[in-house]
Amino acid sequence: MHPEDPTPPRPLITREMIEHAVRRMGDEITNEYAGKKLKLIGTLKGCFVFMSDLARAIRLPLTVDFIEVSSYGNETTSSGVVKINKDFTNTIEDHHVILVEDIIDTGHTLNFLVKNMKLRGPASVRIAALLVKEMKQQLNYPIDYRGFNIEDDFVVGYGMDYSEYYRNLDYVGVLDGQLKLFSQKSS
Ligand code: IMP
Ligand code: MG
Repeated sequence: MHPEDPTPPRPLITREMIEHAVRRMGDEITNEYAGKKLKLIGTLKGCFVFMSDLARAIRLPLTVDFIEVSSYGNETTSSGVVKINKDFTNTIEDHHVILVEDIIDTGHTLNFLVKNMKLRGPASVRIAALLVKEMKQQLNYPIDYRGFNIEDDFVVGYGMDYSEYYRNLDYVGVLDGQLKLFSQKSS
């Protein structure tokens, strides 16, 4: 799963738990968006696995698009500056948008994105996130569809990475010993 470490990350949320949560979220969205022009917008790259499963769990016509952002800042900056690397391609005007996130940590990314989306004329904007780090999040908007609340652990898998690896794990795992190992190797 990582070229320098053969140990699989400790499972935190299993494939079965994820499937169950995604089905529930898909049903909720299906019930609430019937007859509406629905568009899912995923934030790359972490959303790519979750969004493909969520889209298939929604039994309605919909379109998809993607945006890629990066955030700057460190422990001393509380605001978090977010920059758009790749914008979505088609208009969101008059669409009911659901922003799809793999994980909400501080919430800075989504605070920026929701505000930015709302300036571009959508009919509505809501948020779907697989994971939420409850302790840290300072989101200015409600999380309308959520999979799980988790502790402040660094997680990987199901789209989420550590230095670009582990995205293809089919479960969500925690890096315990590995982070120490990697930081020793790079120092
Ligand atoms: P936020 O702006 O602090 O909410 O950060 C959200 C983004 O940081 C997510 O979309 C992820 O890309 C990344 N991120 C936050 N926590 C983790 C984690 O535990 N594992 C992997 N990526 C994470
Ligand atoms: Mg992300």
